[in-house]
Amino acid sequence: MSLAASDPRTRESATTLSVYGQLPFVPVSGSGCDIVTEDQRRILDLYGGHAVAALGYGDPRLVKAIGAQAQLLLFQSNAVALEVRAKAAETLLGVAPANLRRVFFVNSGAEANENALRMACVATARRKVLAITHGFHGRTAAAAAVTWSADKWYGFPQKPFAVEFIPRDDCDSAKAMISDQVAAVIVEPVQGLAGAYDLSAEFLGTLRKQCTLHGALLIADEVQSGIGRCGHFFAVQAYGIEPDIITAAKALGGGIPCGAVLCGNELAARFGPGDLGTTFGGGPIAAAAIVAVIDAIRHDRLLDNVRAREIQIREQCVVGPVRKIQGMGLLLGLVCDRPAVEVRNALLEHDIFAGISADPQVLRILAPLILEPRHVDRLAEALLSLAPATC
Ligand SMILES: Cc1ncc(COP(=O)(O)O)c(C=O)c1O
Repeated sequence: MSLAASDPRTRESATTLSVYGQLPFVPVSGSGCDIVTEDQRRILDLYGGHAVAALGYGDPRLVKAIGAQAQLLLFQSNAVALEVRAKAAETLLGVAPANLRRVFFVNSGAEANENALRMACVATARRKVLAITHGFHGRTAAAAAVTWSADKWYGFPQKPFAVEFIPRDDCDSAKAMISDQVAAVIVEPVQGLAGAYDLSAEFLGTLRKQCTLHGALLIADEVQSGIGRCGHFFAVQAYGIEPDIITAAKALGGGIPCGAVLCGNELAARFGPGDLGTTFGGGPIAAAAIVAVIDAIRHDRLLDNVRAREIQIREQCVVGPVRKIQGMGLLLGLVCDRPAVEVRNALLEHDIFAGISADPQVLRILAPLILEPRHVDRLAEALLSLAPATC
């Protein structure tokens, strides 16, 4: 199909870097869990804009909070204190594990991880970081250095610290590799891009124990798994683990770009004026969005909804091409009997938008936390209608 010169796809490909494989539709509006395209297709969005749209689209409380803050005071940096930033910090810490008492606001997941890793290197005066095989932590220098198989696109002449990868779920390797040389271990409790792979409780418990034993910091990257997505505000809460640092972003602002690094008082005390910084992090619009998102998750009991929809998906969606389901809450990987991209494309013909992942067999569900039973029914029906694999 050749596209008109006026089509945004034509114009984007003529003006922006061709680094994204884009899908064949152009959304113009959204409401609840649906996005509406320029040709009036109504698509059920189970991908949530990369796990961002926690409240779906057009939540009146989020829209109002952003609009009201824009009218009141569009921006001021961290050079001054703001009521709305203080409220955002209190609200976020109020739903975090009890040991995390301070927050540093940033703009994205990669920036949150970049700062978390810097904090670990500074606080421990060590220069080695351990990450987990198959993990993804972002595209900036330090975040990409701890991302599994980033070597193909890393691009910088060298990494900022020594990095080794612990084979995922391998407790013996974790015990052998975490030593007094290690500044931090960074881990996604549920590995998102890897296909919503939930690490075992035993493995995460071993990481926590070994880090404590050797004075290394445990960083939980909850950029994808956090803010209610796994049926708890943070996935580590499901595992009963208290990391030294949590990083968050994506759903944190419900669509307004923002990120956060959460840590304990003792670690926070190591950093004074000028040690960390950002212009936009903690800006008033992002802060207003953070408060609105967390308040809505609590008010609407969305954590309960996420857990109920997970159960429903597990009960109804191991059909058609789906062989098993991994992950937690609404960060789920549907393991397919064929390439997930084929299933994704077939679902799009049913006006259902799911994601793929780094695992070619795994289709990823990152739906808004407001997902309803009827949406899961629709997904199950569409999957059932897909012809079984021929081999
Ligand atoms: C677990 C995890 N960490 C970090 C990032 C990077 O976040 P951002 O794209 O906001 O920089 C992502 C993005 O997909 C992610 O899934």
